[in-house]
Amino acid sequence: MNGADFLQLSPAAAPVRGLTGWLADAIRAAIMDGRLRAGTPLPATRLLAGDLGVSRGVIVEAYQRLADEGLVSARPGAGTQVLGVSRPGSVAAAPAVPGPLLVPPGWRERAQIDLSPGVPDLSGFPRAAWIRAERAVLEQASVTELGYGDPRGSQSLRTELAGWLARTRGLRAGPDEIIVVTGVAQALALLARVLRARGLEEIAVEDPGSRGARDDLAYWGLRPVPVPVDEHGMGVAELALGQARAALLTPAHQFPTGVVLAPQRRRDLLDWADAADGLIVEDDYDAEFRYDRAPVPALHASAPGLVAYAGSTSKTLAPGMRLGWLIPPVRLRAELTEAKYASDLGSPALPQLVLARLIASGELEQHIRLVRKRQRSRRDALLRALREHLPQARVQGVAAGLHLLITFPGLDGSDADLAEAILRTGVLVQPLSWHRQRPGVPGFVLGYAAHTPDRLHEAARRIAQGMS
Ligand SMILES: Cc1ncc(COP(=O)(O)O)c(C=O)c1O
Repeated sequence: MNGADFLQLSPAAAPVRGLTGWLADAIRAAIMDGRLRAGTPLPATRLLAGDLGVSRGVIVEAYQRLADEGLVSARPGAGTQVLGVSRPGSVAAAPAVPGPLLVPPGWRERAQIDLSPGVPDLSGFPRAAWIRAERAVLEQASVTELGYGDPRGSQSLRTELAGWLARTRGLRAGPDEIIVVTGVAQALALLARVLRARGLEEIAVEDPGSRGARDDLAYWGLRPVPVPVDEHGMGVAELALGQARAALLTPAHQFPTGVVLAPQRRRDLLDWADAADGLIVEDDYDAEFRYDRAPVPALHASAPGLVAYAGSTSKTLAPGMRLGWLIPPVRLRAELTEAKYASDLGSPALPQLVLARLIASGELEQHIRLVRKRQRSRRDALLRALREHLPQARVQGVAAGLHLLITFPGLDGSDADLAEAILRTGVLVQPLSWHRQRPGVPGFVLGYAAHTPDRLHEAARRIAQGMS
């Protein structure tokens, strides 16, 4: 007996007479319970008839019944599509763009302006350039390039990345030293597993620091030990007093304070790693966005043997690309490659080939230049708005990145409570305390990259209102 993948329909289950009613019922039920959503095309009548081994007239008739009920569109020649169904109690939720941090349930839905950090302006994704590059890749890719390939990633991407990272971040790493991963998150996961296998139990992390990165490491069994961050970056003296033999840092633009690791601290950190046989994990998550000062070269450039360097396209293109890179010291390369292979046999080939092409053609650089300009003007707009509406706030970390930090040194009370009050005005801000392991001055991390100047102005006005 025939059957169809579509809704797993089997005419064997149908009554002897009344095939049309049976089919219409099955499709109607799927529309009502949400398996078939608005906009979903129904299979072509001829194909479905063939799959089910019934006459095409049965399918045409069933579709017509559903069209009469207003459940599907029936435009001759244009195919049949599911129309929206309004279910009692269903709410049209605004499409939320999740950031890396899990905010309390319901918060994103309540926010009209979501200032979560870490998300670029996704409406600016270079769609046309990507499509052009993908088309060219598909026309030219060899059969081998579509196979399982090297778990470290496609040769052409690793070659392009080596040049790109040398030009933009000062790295000296050949293609064979790079492991393509699905983002900084996977780089941290692989490192955590390999370090655990080598007997490490803890890793020093910045406090305040990225909550997402900390949770990721903890999930894979490494205990994150907080080391305080001051205006020069992570306190290397405190790090050296502890037992940790690995340390995760964001040296170029500390998350979330925006501090750049000071030159003396850089030297002290490298000395610590050298003397203690320690590993520095460099999270270079938003290195491409510098506004007011020259970029600081990556730490990896100074000491490739002591640093595992991680970066991604999450801030330059979109987090949903899940494309990143890990450049570990030689001594960890084989184990990390093995961990990557054990995880997923290697990252998806096609996006890697497309990214390689966008780097080679200069289009990635062009895109970043454009976005940098836009983000700079958004940052300036937020700064103006904060001066106007929140003159008491201390503003930090404005020279780079996609977010800034405001703190309120004299303020009593919890920034998490204040964030809840601000949410009632329709603005989602992340309290600084979410990114801390130890108590400290209250504040908010404000991601500005995804919002127009007008909305940023409105957000600042509402934050002030929520705090009053
Ligand atoms: C400091 C920091 N590290 C790592 C990540 C994770 O990045 P990826 O998307 O490359 O996994 C983020 C995401 O926002 C981040 O803010």
